[in-house]
Amino acid sequence: MIRVLLLHGPNLNALGRRDCRHYGRITLEELERKVRQWGRELGLEVVAYQSNHEGTLIDEIQRWTDEARGAIVNFGALTHSSYALHDALVDFGHPAVEVHLSKISEREPWRRQSVIRPACCAHFEGHGAEGYKMALERLEQELGTNSHTHPDRP
Ligand code: DQA
Repeated sequence: MIRVLLLHGPNLNALGRRDCRHYGRITLEELERKVRQWGRELGLEVVAYQSNHEGTLIDEIQRWTDEARGAIVNFGALTHSSYALHDALVDFGHPAVEVHLSKISEREPWRRQSVIRPACCAHFEGHGAEGYKMALERLEQELGTNSHTHPDRP
């Protein structure tokens, strides 16, 4: 199976009890479980990781550069400020899809900008957990893993 990363940034470990109006009631554990399952259905092995620290997220991206072929990222508030994460995704060299549970383009002005977006091939926001499914489908297209599009594949 093709391996893809699922990376979550600061405060997303608090999903389920944090600002449920924007982020819903799903916990990070439940979300990761769903994404792993959706991934398997598409032939993608999802490796999930969360950190509240920018440098640790960069270490993780670098660690998986040779072992993973893509990434789904929700860097939380670091989305709006971290050029270092932008650069790490560029160096990663595989397709990355940006996801946000809430619709950041309709929230506070500072939240509307994503500095990591130029390093991503697509973004989904405001669809809750479903946004991650959309991201997986997009990655699958990018990576060409679908047996429907590759009928010769066993
Ligand atoms: C978020 C949006 C960010 O602005 C916020 O800081 C988060 C969550 C989202 O998933 O909607 O932590 O990335």
